[in-house]
Amino acid sequence: MNRSDFPMLQNDLIYFDNGATTLKPQTVIDEMVDYYSNYSANAHRGDYDVSLKVDKMYENVRDKVQKLINCAKREEVVFTKGATESLNMIVFGYMKYILKENDEVLITKAEHASNVLPWLQLAKEIGIKIKYIPLDEQHELTLSSLQKSITDKTKVISLAHITNVVGDVRPLEEIGKICKAKKILFVVDGAQSVAHIPIDVQKYNVAFLAFSAHKMLGPTGVGVLYGRYDLLNIMHPLQYGGGMNNLFEIDGTVEYKNIPTRLEAGTPPIAEVIGLGKAIDYLLDIGIDNIHKYEVQLKEYAINKLEQIPNIKIYNKHSQSGIIAFNIDGVFSQDTAVYLNHYHICVRAGNHCAKILKDEFKINNTCRISFYLYNTKAEIDTLVKVLEQSENIFKIVL
Ligand code: ALA
Repeated sequence: MNRSDFPMLQNDLIYFDNGATTLKPQTVIDEMVDYYSNYSANAHRGDYDVSLKVDKMYENVRDKVQKLINCAKREEVVFTKGATESLNMIVFGYMKYILKENDEVLITKAEHASNVLPWLQLAKEIGIKIKYIPLDEQHELTLSSLQKSITDKTKVISLAHITNVVGDVRPLEEIGKICKAKKILFVVDGAQSVAHIPIDVQKYNVAFLAFSAHKMLGPTGVGVLYGRYDLLNIMHPLQYGGGMNNLFEIDGTVEYKNIPTRLEAGTPPIAEVIGLGKAIDYLLDIGIDNIHKYEVQLKEYAINKLEQIPNIKIYNKHSQSGIIAFNIDGVFSQDTAVYLNHYHICVRAGNHCAKILKDEFKINNTCRISFYLYNTKAEIDTLVKVLEQSENIFKIVL
């Protein structure tokens, strides 16, 4: 990894908001520009060379995703708008037709809105019950708590692999084994994890996985839905239109295509999918495991330093990812973010779309630092220096 691969890093900026979106390497940008400049045709619709090249480039990315998550078949990979759309497809395209009144879905209070709101809506529509697995004093999920929450009505466990504020890494392998033994569908929100820690959907018995390209060095506007073939094959499309049908007649006869095409109605985000492919190349060249180790090193380095600052409260010291949630005593988190911005340090402040986590943290808002592979210890040193001088904060934030 070379920091010069990232044009944004050539600016005077310390970017610690990778949980919100990551920066893009020049290779990803170039790949998308190449599509628009040199072979900008539609996908799956043309019989001429340029269009056939698009099909090849687009479909190659399905193979790259298959390799990244180790799914059994390339047809199990569906391109969507992002993790949010993928989770909505899981809930409203599959679960809505499978679950019955009083069936239980287990989630936690640390989940992102995209892994809470679709379930809450489905509960209103068909009467399923949403239950929250209690978290421990570090706000993390434990296996014993998960096991105690399972009843004979539990049909689905839907969890982030890494949560976006606490940053705890859920033990997917063990949870997958429990789900397999109890015939529970295991849904994984991989938005904060797929580019940070290895995942193997077969080994972990994952039924469905959702993630977004923009949080993994890729472009916005594209994401992935993985679904185990037998499940995905009976998923109802949420969108109907061109590209996903073989024929339709005025008498209402319709024949849909096979998956994954059936679930990709309309012109897909072609440049973005191709850009995602390049991002996956970049990540796999480095190795996802190496990225994880590096982020944990950065976090430990930062925690050791931040702990020395008396007026800083850290909410997730122990979680094994690159995420740190903190506040300065008596300072509103957004004021801290504005203060850091004065020194060109980018962090996110607020509830981070995990709006029921406040019941755990006992406060509404935190500042979140989220590291990625291009961050450095020198950047952390600058952050620490700025936070050590935070008695100046209200001279700057007015
Ligand atoms: N879900 C993104 C975050 O955690 C936007 O910041």
